[in-house]
Amino acid sequence: MVIRLTNPSKMATSMSSWRGYARVFMRRRQKILERCLQTTSNSSLSKPEKSTFYVSTPIFYVNAAPHIGHLYTALVADSLTRWKQLKGIPTFFATGTDEHGLKVQQAAEKGGVPPKVFCDEISNKFRELFKKYDINYSTFVRTTDEAHVDTVHYIWNLLNEKGFIYKDVYKGWYAVSDEAFVSDKDVKEVTTKAGEIQKVSAESGQPVVWMEEENYMFRLSQFKPQLQEWIDTEVIQPSHPFFKKIVQSTLDNLTDLSVTRSSDRVSWGISVPNDPSQKIYVWLDALTNYLTVTGYPGKDYHSYWPADYHVVGKDILKFHAVYWPAFLIAADLSLPKKILCHSHWKVDGVKMSKSLGNIVDPVDCMSKYTMDGVRYFLLRQGTPQNDADFNEKRIVEVINNEMVNTVGNALNRISSKAINPEQLFPNPSTDVLLTKFTEEDRQKLEELYTLADQVDRFYEDGNVYLALETLMKYLFWANKIVNDHEPWILVKDAAAKEHLDTVIYVVMETLRVCGILIQPVVPSFSSRLLTRLGVPDTERLITHSQVKIHPTSPNYVQTLNPLDSVLMQRLKYKR
Ligand code: MSP
Repeated sequence: MVIRLTNPSKMATSMSSWRGYARVFMRRRQKILERCLQTTSNSSLSKPEKSTFYVSTPIFYVNAAPHIGHLYTALVADSLTRWKQLKGIPTFFATGTDEHGLKVQQAAEKGGVPPKVFCDEISNKFRELFKKYDINYSTFVRTTDEAHVDTVHYIWNLLNEKGFIYKDVYKGWYAVSDEAFVSDKDVKEVTTKAGEIQKVSAESGQPVVWMEEENYMFRLSQFKPQLQEWIDTEVIQPSHPFFKKIVQSTLDNLTDLSVTRSSDRVSWGISVPNDPSQKIYVWLDALTNYLTVTGYPGKDYHSYWPADYHVVGKDILKFHAVYWPAFLIAADLSLPKKILCHSHWKVDGVKMSKSLGNIVDPVDCMSKYTMDGVRYFLLRQGTPQNDADFNEKRIVEVINNEMVNTVGNALNRISSKAINPEQLFPNPSTDVLLTKFTEEDRQKLEELYTLADQVDRFYEDGNVYLALETLMKYLFWANKIVNDHEPWILVKDAAAKEHLDTVIYVVMETLRVCGILIQPVVPSFSSRLLTRLGVPDTERLITHSQVKIHPTSPNYVQTLNPLDSVLMQRLKYKR
């Protein structure tokens, strides 16, 4: 049950019905708040479907340091997990690093260090980055961990015993950068800068090499009907034609999959049990991480598996929507509930690449735009369906317009000593609401308490940008209230005290509710905001955004706390 104070469609539309409503409301609000505070973990919003809600990020390749695109994937998963936590749902958030394969092996060779040393260094960079950006993961897996190697061996043996693995000679194109096979029809020729003709994958633009060797194969093609059925259940979100096309074209051309490499070629990998001449294909190895973190095959894995959300970028959708479910079906395991796909970040309209030298370093960004600023920008501008553009001028604009000029400004205007000398979150006056506020504004005030419902589906579907767009509308409105009622004039007139208090209340309530609902995106910024408003740590769950403050008596007093650091610094754009 969602706790709501009122149904906006049944809102009072005249003065008398508003008064009647206000009386009923006064009686009900004490009860509602009590119920809400007691049942934080009982309401339907907070009822877990299974004991733990499991969200994963892809595990990140350690061939190079993390960039802004990697951070974005992790932020989408982090914000979704935090949203669940705000509902009181126990969560399990897994991330980690993907460390085997030719791509990493070659990067280590180039760096002149043993692969494990190379992996340790880059894996640590991901950990450090996540710490800096407050990515609140529950577990960090590395594919070089012993426990993971054991799980991969277990899965291999299972697939083998069930007859899904056989030996054959594999011939075909392989893109090392993508660690992916490319069919003949998906190979095209391009002319390099040096004037040479090169064969590349049409999908990723990465060079391909011809491979011809004896490998172990997985009977992928026989799973086509089950995979088609599963895909048709709209398991891939958001349901976008482009994402569907990626998966459907893989399904339409489904062949068996080579799941090993000769150890002569790929030395850095997990050996096939009882056959050290072959290493397990890096995608079979990597995808299995989602089971490793659950403790599989230990019995407790049931508390986590199946994963509720695998968050992935569009470039790796086919591995998660075709290969992974096929391995799982073959192993008799249940399938993930949703795959949440997102598009990519470009830089000034161009794909990020080492050769172009336009890779954006998230650590560097943080020093310029702050942790909250970067989190806000990426989640506000990144949409699942279209590539987003990382443009430094735009970052400054978005942060200044929304975090500083909208949220910061509303807060400063009603909490300054000049306007609010007693530093209180005052009580509203029903009379003032009736006589000095428009019907439209009264309605907007009531709608605040249904905002959690409005943004819920956006967070749940990975459309965080829509949640932020919705919250911003209310925050813009809060500033409009300040402009309309001019508290700097009201403060000079003792007779206008109730009017002033009501204006301050309306703006503070908007900031409080939006501050609660924006926590998954900007945890530290929202914490400063809520602390300033005097909202205790124990009253920051979704259920608290659904009831009004000052529940009991007109004498209820909430005192503001001092702000120990500025809410958000105004930024300057430097070329
Ligand atoms: N190791 C594999 C995943 C194995 S999961 C079993 C991999 N790693 S990756 O480091 O290349 O990518 C990790 C995530 O970062 C993917 O979701 C990918 O889509 C995302 N991004 C990489 N570049 C990106 C952008 N430019 N923009 C947004 N996300 C991007 O793939």
